[in-house]
Amino acid sequence: MTSLTITRPDDWHLHLRDGDMMKAVLPETARHFGRAIIMPNLIPPVITAKDAAEYRDRIMSAKPDNSKFQPLMTLYLTEDTEVKDLRAAAEIGLIHAIKLYPAGATTNSASGVADFSKVQRVLENMAQIGLPLCVHGEVTDADVDIFDREAVFIDRVLDPIRRAVPELRVIMEHITTKQGADYARSGGDNLAATITTHHLVINRNHILAGGIKPHYYCLPVAKREEHRLALLEAATSGDKTYFLGTDSAPHTDENKLLPCGCAGCFTATNTMSILAEVFEKENALDKLEGFASLHGPAFYRLEPNKDTITLTKGDPVTYPDRIETAQGDVTMFDPQFPLHWRVT
Ligand code: NCD
Ligand code: ZN
Repeated sequence: MTSLTITRPDDWHLHLRDGDMMKAVLPETARHFGRAIIMPNLIPPVITAKDAAEYRDRIMSAKPDNSKFQPLMTLYLTEDTEVKDLRAAAEIGLIHAIKLYPAGATTNSASGVADFSKVQRVLENMAQIGLPLCVHGEVTDADVDIFDREAVFIDRVLDPIRRAVPELRVIMEHITTKQGADYARSGGDNLAATITTHHLVINRNHILAGGIKPHYYCLPVAKREEHRLALLEAATSGDKTYFLGTDSAPHTDENKLLPCGCAGCFTATNTMSILAEVFEKENALDKLEGFASLHGPAFYRLEPNKDTITLTKGDPVTYPDRIETAQGDVTMFDPQFPLHWRVT
């Protein structure tokens, strides 16, 4: 096969940032993707309906002129989130999900949830109105090994939440483990999982063997190869539980290449080329549309995009090593294998 036309994909987990950084990275997503679930971890975070409406306006004005890209807004769940505000924002279609960050789990998550009993009422209201909860699934306890934090979160936090509020619709975001993939698959219609581009490509050796590679450091951190293989199996299985959330998370090189560097891989630009290559290697090009374009809208109860994109296979396609922003350069994720598929 040398040409593949699929329904235009969406990105169900994206960091667009704000200001100059947003101006630089937004066109990279808008080029291929119809919609994206916009992460609310700005400084300060997007907590209220008013915050989300204002952030949405800033995105719409930074969007390239002829682009039909639609941002799907989320609110950042805190222990003080107001049910009334959240319900009003959902009713008018302003927000499509609420994001749960365990306090301290990742970039800009200090205002996240520490005591889960404090958000029980919010979660019950979300279950009533069918508003999904996007979950960053890692415990933050210092005594839990960073490579175990996702698996421990499922047992200690996620499963209890789902038992307490069984009707709550949950997206396990950027799963990185076999445990995550298995739990998502076993969870019935109210549970789904997103998988990033980079977690289909790298394991922890890419970060740590032969010198430390800060550009491969993201959260949740990539795990052993057996886990990457489980994610690959899940993404290419055709199972509607799994869909694409790139977690494209731009940080300037200056902020990545520090003694304490930021977590995040920037994949917005080359994701579709990488996915086509990865799915082709698995003999699963016929499953790419489901993963990137159909399973996500189905879970979010939206129509798939009406238009299509075409991927064409040919000589290796190259992407710039980094993009320039007014805040500094952002290095693009390097899959370390040639890419033959380009979006035409
Ligand atoms: C994200 C970021 O930089 O905002 N970083 C990351 O490594 N994925 C936060 C997140 O999604 O965990
Ligand atoms: Zn993220």
